[in-house]
Amino acid sequence: MNKTALITGASSGFGLLTSITLAQRGWHVLATMRDPNRRENLESAARDAALQDRIEIHQLDVTDADQIAQTTALIASRAQPLHALINNAGFAVPGFAEEVSDAELRDQFNTNFFGATALTRAILPQMRRQRFGHVVMVSSISGRTGFPGVSSYVASKFALEGWTETLRYEMAPLGIKVSIVEPGSFATDIWTRNAKLSAAMSDPDSPNAARLARWQARVQASAKARANPQQVADLIARILETPAPKLRYVIGTDARTALLMRNILPQRLFERLLIKLSGLSD
Ligand SMILES: NC(=O)c1ccc[n+]([C@@H]2O[C@H](COP(=O)([O-])OP(=O)(O)OC[C@H]3O[C@@H](n4cnc5c(N)ncnc54)[C@H](OP(=O)(O)O)[C@@H]3O)[C@@H](O)[C@H]2O)c1
Repeated sequence: MNKTALITGASSGFGLLTSITLAQRGWHVLATMRDPNRRENLESAARDAALQDRIEIHQLDVTDADQIAQTTALIASRAQPLHALINNAGFAVPGFAEEVSDAELRDQFNTNFFGATALTRAILPQMRRQRFGHVVMVSSISGRTGFPGVSSYVASKFALEGWTETLRYEMAPLGIKVSIVEPGSFATDIWTRNAKLSAAMSDPDSPNAARLARWQARVQASAKARANPQQVADLIARILETPAPKLRYVIGTDARTALLMRNILPQRLFERLLIKLSGLSD
C-alpha cells in the first residue's frame, strides 16, 4: 500500500516539487492549494512524469476554517491512513518592523502560524487514532535568527518553531513524529509573485525610504544566488522516510553560514555584519 501525504501550498515552489518528488518515490499525495485555478503547473508536471494517478489536487486555503474541516473530513472518510502532513503554505511581508502595520502583521501570522497550527490540530486526531503519523513544518532559517526587512516573516516562523518544538515533545509518546525544515534562500515564487510588500515600502514619505531602497537592491542583487528548490523537496522526502527523524533540518549554504556566524561570532560583530550586508547603515 502506498503511504499517503497531505501537503499545503502545492501550486508552486517547494509544495509543487515535494508533491512530484513524493509521488515519484511511491507516495500517494493529497496536494492542496488555495486556488485550484493555479493547478496547471502541478498537473502538467504530474503528466510529464506519468504520476497523475498518485497526485490528487484539493482546495485548501489554510486560513479558511471551513476548508480545513472539509479536508479533515476527506481524510477521515478514506480507508487509507494519513502518514504525513507537510505544512508548507506560507508567504512573506517585506518591510521594516517600525512600519509594518498591525493588519499586515496579523495577515502574515494568519497563514504562516495560525493556518499551519489549525490544520495540524485538525489532523492530529486522525494520527492519534492510527497511532502513527509525521508532521513536517516548513519553517525557515528566519525561524532561527532575525533578518532585517522581514520582521513579520521572522516573527511568524519563530512562533511556528516554538509551537512545533513543543508539539514534538507532546506527540512523541503517542508515536507521532514532528520535524521542522529550515531552508535558506531558494528560487521559488516567495520573493517575487508571492511577496506582499508592506504598504510603507511604496510610500515615498517613509522615514526609511532610502534605507528600504538600499535593502531592496541588496535583496534583488542576491536573487541570482538562490538555490535550487528541488533540494528541499528531496530533503522532505528523506525526512519522511527516516525511521527516527530529527527535530530540525537546516538546508542551504546561506542558512548554515548564517547559523554558524550567529553561533560563533560575538553578538555585536554578528549585528554589525548583518547591518552592513543589508545596506541599512545611513
Ligand atoms: N523559497 C525560500 O527561499 C524559502 C526559504 C525558507 C522558507 N520558505 C518557506 O517555504 C514555504 C513554501 O514557500 P515557497 O518558497 O515554495 O514559495 P512559493 O512558491 O511562493 O509557494 C508558496 C505556496 O504557499 C501557498 N499559499 C500562500 N498562502 C496560502 C494560504 N493561505 N493557504 C494555502 N496556500 C497558501 C501559495 O499559493 P498560491 O500559488 O495561491 O500563491 C503557494 O502555493 C513557505 O512556508 C516559506 O515560508 C521558503
